[in-house]
Amino acid sequence: MNFSDSEIVSSILAEEGFITFSKMYDADLILLNTCSIRERAEMNIRKRLIEFQYIKKKKPSIIIGILGCMAERLKNVWLEEEKIVDLVVGPDAYRDLPMLISRIEDGKSSINVLLTKKETYADVNPVRLVHNITGFISVTRGCDNMCSFCVVPFTRGRERSRDPFTIVKECLNLWSQGYKEVTLLGQNVDSYLWFGGGMKKDFSKASPLQKATYLSFADLLELVARSAPKMRIRFSTSNPYDISINVIKVIDRYPNVCKNIHLPFQSGSTRVLELMNRRYSSEKYFSLIRKIRKIIPDCAISHDIIAGFCGEFEEDHRQTLSLMEYVRYDFGYMFIYSERTGTQASNSLFDDVPKEVKRRRLQEIIFLQKKHSAECMQAQIGKIQEVLIEGESRKSKMFWYGRTSQNAVVVFPKGFYNKGDFVKVRVKTTAAATLIGHCLEIV
Ligand code: 5AD
Ligand code: SF4
Repeated sequence: MNFSDSEIVSSILAEEGFITFSKMYDADLILLNTCSIRERAEMNIRKRLIEFQYIKKKKPSIIIGILGCMAERLKNVWLEEEKIVDLVVGPDAYRDLPMLISRIEDGKSSINVLLTKKETYADVNPVRLVHNITGFISVTRGCDNMCSFCVVPFTRGRERSRDPFTIVKECLNLWSQGYKEVTLLGQNVDSYLWFGGGMKKDFSKASPLQKATYLSFADLLELVARSAPKMRIRFSTSNPYDISINVIKVIDRYPNVCKNIHLPFQSGSTRVLELMNRRYSSEKYFSLIRKIRKIIPDCAISHDIIAGFCGEFEEDHRQTLSLMEYVRYDFGYMFIYSERTGTQASNSLFDDVPKEVKRRRLQEIIFLQKKHSAECMQAQIGKIQEVLIEGESRKSKMFWYGRTSQNAVVVFPKGFYNKGDFVKVRVKTTAAATLIGHCLEIV
C-alpha cells in the first residue's frame, strides 16, 4: 500500500516539475513514506531519519519529509521537539505536497495530517517508480473494521471506495505499457462498495437507483477481469468477516484472476478473536476455508497470524497451531503482538504475555508454517504450471523467475523466452521457498 502511495506522490510532484534521483545526495528533497502497523516498522524509520541527519549536516538546504501513517502519530516529536524533519504529511494530504514544500522554502515548517472521508486519488495516474511486469492499483483507502490491535483506522482514516471507472482505466493503461499483472489493493478489499452516482457507505440510505446499480468487490473484480482478459489480476487483503462467496466464484470463473487468497486469521481461538474484535469465530473461519476448497480445490491460501495477543493462553496458542494444521497454508506472515498507542487493545486490554513466551509461540508458528509451505511445494513436483516471467533469477543470469497463479515462485532456464511472457513450466524439484522447473512452451 505504501509502495502504491509513493507512486501517487511521485505523480503529484512530477506534475509540478519534480524529478527523482537514484542517489540521496543529489536530491533537494527526501520523502520517507512510513508505516505504523507494528513497532518494528517504526524503529526502522527512526534509524533512517538518523542517517538523513548526516546528509542534512553536509547539505543543510535539503528538505526531509515524513509521509504516511507515522505522520499523525509522531508529528509533534519529530517536527517540533526533535526537529529532525521539515515536513509532515498524512496519507490523505498528498495533493497539498507542492504547496507545503514551497512553505518550507519560505522558511516555515509544514504539516498537514488531516484525514478526509473522500480522498481516493482516483484521478491521479501514478508514476511507476520502477518499470515492471506487475503493478499495484489501490481500490479502497482507510479501514472501518476497528480490530482492537490495529492502528490503521486511526492513521489512514475512514474507509472509502474508489470510482470503478478510474480503476479499469488505470488497469488498461498499465496493460498498454506492457504490464501483465495487477494487484488490487485495499486494507479490506471485500468491503469495497460503489454506488452509481457517488460514494455512500451506508447502504440503507442509498436511493433505489443507487441500490440497483451498486458495485460490490465481486462485481469490481469481475469488471476488471473482463476489461483486461489477458492480464493477471490479484487482490489483497481479504478479511474473513467480509469476503463473500461471490468473490470466490469470480476467482473460479475467470482464468485471469489468480487462484490465491490472502486470508489473515490472526488467531485460532474464538475467545482471542473476540478480544481482537475480528467479528468471526474460528468455526466460521473453518467453514469459509471449506467453501473455498470446495469451489476452487487448487486455490492457494495464505495468512497473517499474531502471536501473544493480550490474554492469549497456551490453549489459545494451541488452537492457532491446530487451525494451521487443518488448513495447511501455502504461505503466511507471522508477527509478535506489539501494542499500538490509541488502539482499543492498548486502551482496554493488558499486554500480559511475557516477551519470551510471545517469541517462543511465534517460533512454533513459523516452524509449522515452514513445514506446510515445504509440503505444498513438494506437492507441485511433476505438475505443469502457467508462469508469468517477472525477471532474471537473483542467483543466476541463466535463469528466469516468475510466479504461478497460486503465487509460488518458480525458477527455470531462460531458453528463448522473454520477461513478460506467460509460459508453461514443468516443476522438477524445490529449493528453499522456490520451485525449480523447465519451460515447455509459451502460452
Ligand atoms: N501487532 C502485531 N501485528 C499486527 N498486525 C496489525 N497490527 C498489529 C500489532 N499491533 C498484523 C496483522 C495484520 C498485518 C497487516 O499486521 O496480522 O493482518
Ligand atoms: Fe487493521 Fe483490521 Fe482494518 Fe486490517 S481489517 S487494516 S487489521 S482494522
